[in-house]
Amino acid sequence: MKREPIKVPLRTKPWGVTGVIRFLRTARRNLVEMIPETATIHPMLSSETMRRWHMVMDPQALKRILKDNVENYPKAEVAVNIMRTAIGESIFVAHGQYWLWQRRTAAPIFSYRNVANLAPIMTEATARTVEKIARIPDDEPFNILDPMIEVTFEIISDVTLSNDDSLSREQMHRALDSFIKRTGRVSLLDALGAPFWIPRPSRLFSARDLTNVQKIVDRAIEKRRAIGPNPNPDLTDLFLAGEDPVTKRRMTTEELRNNLLTFVVAGHETSALTLAWAIYLCSIDPEVQEKAAEEARAVLNGRTAVVDDVAKMPYVRCIIEETLRLYPPFALLIRSAKEDDTLIGREVRKGDPLILPIYALHRNRLLWEDPDSFKPERFQDRKSIARFSYLPFGDGPRICIGAEFALQEMVIVLGTLLSRFRFDPVEGKEPKPVMLLTLRPQGGVWVRARKR
Ligand code: HEM
Repeated sequence: MKREPIKVPLRTKPWGVTGVIRFLRTARRNLVEMIPETATIHPMLSSETMRRWHMVMDPQALKRILKDNVENYPKAEVAVNIMRTAIGESIFVAHGQYWLWQRRTAAPIFSYRNVANLAPIMTEATARTVEKIARIPDDEPFNILDPMIEVTFEIISDVTLSNDDSLSREQMHRALDSFIKRTGRVSLLDALGAPFWIPRPSRLFSARDLTNVQKIVDRAIEKRRAIGPNPNPDLTDLFLAGEDPVTKRRMTTEELRNNLLTFVVAGHETSALTLAWAIYLCSIDPEVQEKAAEEARAVLNGRTAVVDDVAKMPYVRCIIEETLRLYPPFALLIRSAKEDDTLIGREVRKGDPLILPIYALHRNRLLWEDPDSFKPERFQDRKSIARFSYLPFGDGPRICIGAEFALQEMVIVLGTLLSRFRFDPVEGKEPKPVMLLTLRPQGGVWVRARKR
């Protein structure tokens, strides 16, 4: 029987006299719980007492922040500071000219054609995952998030640095994972000006694991420079051959390593979470699941999906898009105003933090009908979704460079899985959406997978 998807209880009361303590406790527990419920019925909320900040849900204002006046709204320093430790001044972190030349160099690498050429790696990893899940007995509950993290990690590490024995997937995974776990929670605390004495997990982080990974990646890049590209070029080969079309500058080993690690950090957990949430949503809505399974089975007929199948499974893609609406991995983005500005008639002052609560934008009643329900059909007519009301990948010049890569990968994995298994929920094991650095299902996504 169909059920309503789980949601985060947004805040309905003001912080009050004991506000600071409750605020901090909530921030450490779940950043999304700090979003007021009113963010789902208003276009913009502002605080002008104690500490000034704005929360923006209006598409026109979002367009101004992310596109039309983007120069005035850089990523908040505090939000990228923690990322800097692991990935330096890479595309994700840098701004100004230093960002621009990296983006220009990377853009052709993420072109449709190159992403399509990487698809065989996605297909192979998916086939291995199907085998793993098929070995689990039909009635045995398991947490589908684990194989989803494994499959997306295998894909991203194979497309960035393939055929390199010196780089153990496990080692890289462990180091980056511990980094992500320890550094979560902090950015919003900093952005909202929490006092300096509040412990920030990032300060406790020992960088040893990470430095090791950086060294190993550097050596692997140098080796590739020496021996030349793989027969099937991976991202390292493409970057080594790539240059800024304007200045002709190429990346140094350190710049290249920072960007490769960026793709691994930005590109595997996000897709894994979306896949796990998508399977959760299908498991509680058998009608949607059957419709998607029928589409996928008709196309695949027992095979693992390849790139040409992606366009033939539009309903599977709608499920992915609807999942990204309900559980956007980057549920909050943070910017900071460089100069005074006006957003939908409201005064924004130099230095004000702007919180873009993507989670609340995607559930805003002014923009979405029946926003808390799972209805993949709403994405069937893409034109009916107003721009800047749906921002799982951000927008404007800083839009996710890996969006097409991620969508292709997720349709290949989800389409194949739905064609081979029927997923049922496990009673008493509902996942809880909790945001640290990304919006994760706390407790995992428990399902039973019955072979079709
Ligand atoms: C479901 C999967 C994904 C989601 C939801 C997602 C989401 C996002 C969002 C929201 C941003 C913008 C952040 C901001 O404006 O503050 C972003 C940027 C970025 N993403 Fe993704 N991402 C995904 C997958 C990937 C993949 C697979 C890669 C790489 C292979 C990737 C690489 C990047 C990079 C490099 C940036 C920074 C771009 C720039 O600032 O120029 N992402 N992503």
